[in-house]
Amino acid sequence: MSKVARHPRHPAVVNMNLEGIAQRYTIRFADIKPDWNVFGDSNYDGYRRAQFRYIGETLGKPEIRHIPAGATRLSVMYVPPGEGNAPHTHPVEEVFFVLKGNLTVFFEEEDGRRVEENLGPWDCVSCPAGVIHGFQNNGLEPAYLQVMVGQKKPEPMGYADVKLDAAEPRMQVDRGTLKDALWVSQFGAV
Ligand SMILES: [Fe+2]
Repeated sequence: MSKVARHPRHPAVVNMNLEGIAQRYTIRFADIKPDWNVFGDSNYDGYRRAQFRYIGETLGKPEIRHIPAGATRLSVMYVPPGEGNAPHTHPVEEVFFVLKGNLTVFFEEEDGRRVEENLGPWDCVSCPAGVIHGFQNNGLEPAYLQVMVGQKKPEPMGYADVKLDAAEPRMQVDRGTLKDALWVSQFGAV
């Protein structure tokens, strides 16, 4: 019986056979090396975490193997106890889905007011564009969370802390040029 694809193929796979698609669009956890040096804040105690890259580029690291992104990038974050990330924003929404352990996700106003949500396995939160957010592992066990960003092209995250933002070399560049700059720094966007 013949089958009909009701939607056109994405241009990237028009000329690929199924074997090629399956090979290029699959990544296995065992083949990914955790990267502890992705983010501008991850050299500071309390913000140390490792990224496993799955779909889409890590900012400044196109050489790291990843599944080509359409409109969404996906990574998995390993967060040791006592670690997390600094309050920040993105130009698009970001989704956290906890795979293992527990995590406190926070939203902040510019005046410092903070609201927290405690998440466990299978819990999910979406951080809307421009809303200051972050997470912290306040437990005794490491946490793994899946991170999805609704953007094909990686962009620098915007740190809410003025000192942290100023200390970040790539952040000293006019933000209007960030999108098109070729970043070879070690820092990433998630
Ligand atoms: Fe974020």
